[in-house]
Amino acid sequence: MRIILATNNENKVAEISAILDAFGITVEGAASAGGMPEVEEDGVTFAENALAKARAGARNFGEPALADDSGLEIPALDGRPGVYSARYAGPSCSYADNNRKLLGEMTDLEGDKRRGRFVCSAALAFPDGQEYVVEGELFGTITTEPRGSGGFGYDPVFVPDGRGRTLAEMNSEEKNDISHRRRAFEKMAGVLRNLAASGAIESLAEGEKPPV
Ligand code: IMP
Repeated sequence: MRIILATNNENKVAEISAILDAFGITVEGAASAGGMPEVEEDGVTFAENALAKARAGARNFGEPALADDSGLEIPALDGRPGVYSARYAGPSCSYADNNRKLLGEMTDLEGDKRRGRFVCSAALAFPDGQEYVVEGELFGTITTEPRGSGGFGYDPVFVPDGRGRTLAEMNSEEKNDISHRRRAFEKMAGVLRNLAASGAIESLAEGEKPPV
């Protein structure tokens, strides 16, 4: 059985495939399976948006589909940027615009008020309507200035708990090892293995039998 990764974003396909590969789970990116239609991300939670994309993938390909949605939440800002993380500073803003807006809003916040978390919801949808959602998170603190040139998005302003450097000051292995996406898809690997072990899906990767 094929599992489609319902995104046209090849960076996401590479990162998520690598995580699931370690569990013996093979997925195919939507682009190489024929492409995904754009899905409106109008949910009020990451889970709703991830499910909308996974459902669209399952409908489009007639096969089980995985998708994710992620962003940054700051409790002292009532959860902003939240589901608006990508377009926080406006419809066609850059990552730098978003970081500037975020740091501007946090100028007067100190100590614990600068804490936040990255969240990733991962969703699995089947053509028959079965659905599963899991969440991964990474807690940390927002800096007062951007630091580092790696990664993307809010990486230059986010220092994970227990580390002295921003995500943009880490190499990709170090970041991907602790990321909210890794944590969500590790949980999803557990869901997929349970489904395979119970016979609900045929197999995880060609030639591989899940442990029982
Ligand atoms: P997406 O909708 O899951 O592709 O991500 C939404 C937005 O959340 C991105 O455009 C980034 O601004 C932010 N984001 C998600 N994950 C990360 C991350 O790992 N580092 C930095 N920013 C992130």
